[in-house]
Amino acid sequence: VDGEGRRVFDLEVREGSHEFTAGRSTPTWGVNGDYLGPTLRASRGEEVLVNVTNDVGEPTTLHWHGMHLPARMDGGPHQMIDPGETWSPTWRIEQPAASLWYHPHLHGSTQEHVYRGVAGMFLLDDERSGQVGLPDEYGVDDFPLVVQDKKFAADGTLDTDEGMVAPSGLLGDTVAVNGTVGGYLDVTTEKVRLRLLNGSGGRFYDFGLADGGTVTMVASDGGLLPAPLEIDRVLLSPGERAEIVVEMAPGEEKVLRSHPTDLGLGAWDSRFTGAEDTFDLVQLRAAESLAPSAEIAAELAPAPDLRAEDASETRRFRLSGNNINGRRMDMDRIDEVVTVGDTEIWEVSNSNGGTPHNFHVHDVQFRVLDLEGTPPPPELSGWKDTLYIRPNTTARIVMRFEDYTDPDYPYMFHCHLLQHEDRGMMGQFVVV
Ligand code: C2O
Ligand code: CU
Ligand code: CU
Repeated sequence: VDGEGRRVFDLEVREGSHEFTAGRSTPTWGVNGDYLGPTLRASRGEEVLVNVTNDVGEPTTLHWHGMHLPARMDGGPHQMIDPGETWSPTWRIEQPAASLWYHPHLHGSTQEHVYRGVAGMFLLDDERSGQVGLPDEYGVDDFPLVVQDKKFAADGTLDTDEGMVAPSGLLGDTVAVNGTVGGYLDVTTEKVRLRLLNGSGGRFYDFGLADGGTVTMVASDGGLLPAPLEIDRVLLSPGERAEIVVEMAPGEEKVLRSHPTDLGLGAWDSRFTGAEDTFDLVQLRAAESLAPSAEIAAELAPAPDLRAEDASETRRFRLSGNNINGRRMDMDRIDEVVTVGDTEIWEVSNSNGGTPHNFHVHDVQFRVLDLEGTPPPPELSGWKDTLYIRPNTTARIVMRFEDYTDPDYPYMFHCHLLQHEDRGMMGQFVVV
């Protein structure tokens, strides 16, 4: 905490080398370390200041994914940090408890910078979040799981070649969780909370237990769900998060797996998107005696207070090829102008036959109104900032743009499949 009462984080984006599997070292990038970055944590109402120093040999940025903040602090393509420079955004945390994350967001190379390992979690707490019976002792019964796929060349370096057919971008054949392949977690409590982040650029994960048992989902991208939800699977597209609580018996072992899944693609695209793959991600090993965990409250957080009736505008976004509404990202073009305080409905269509896309909006968390006219399933009933949109379907989301205006600096909206984003499937909006 500095003299002005701000919580200060010092981050250095740097080059390093990391052993994903024992005995083979791979050149990587990381934040304050060789691969991935530290988990940042702050509470609602706090002011934060982050000093981001770029020590990799090329310009990059650091974006606070899911964060409500002024556009100049957002860390998007307009906040480039040159090698050797430090960028110091500051803002006040004014949103519910959530598992957010940070990653580079420069135009054209986001996929590669994230793939090299520049990613970390940014956890937010609020007054209520510590009192709803959820495990919340970091590193004891509350763990972030940053999931990234990798492809290794024969010499152990990261292979960044997408290959000939890559409908969702660079795809790895190995999946690391917090930088470890085939790892395990010692569980010492009856319940363990896993904050799952799909930190991959193009791979989807359908998380579930290998034994088919259920887990309790308690949060989506932007906060706690209204109520805990018993589920056997949770599908996360690139950039999405979910929090799950797993119950363990003494001495028990469970495996968190990514299961084959139906993304609504044809057989060809399904295969080249990795949707048919299975990965055992991490093993949970319970001790012979477990400390008791609290009962999870029946109500976790208020449901998003966003209604279609309150919307003053409906905008339409058509995702196709590497375009949105027929246009590619242009740093000098503002695509949408939003009035501060307004609630808006955005109608987003994936008009591509066989290609998966998702949709992410900066600055806000939204509520999903419907998917192809049907109310969303309960796992999509809470705050979201990134949503998978199946081919040939339309989603309607509703959100409110509050607090910050800036006619000169835009926020981004884009497909979070990072190859698509890099190729221009992104647009800019200002709030005025
Ligand atoms: Cu996670 Cu615009 O980004
Ligand atoms: Cu973002
Ligand atoms: Cu896309």
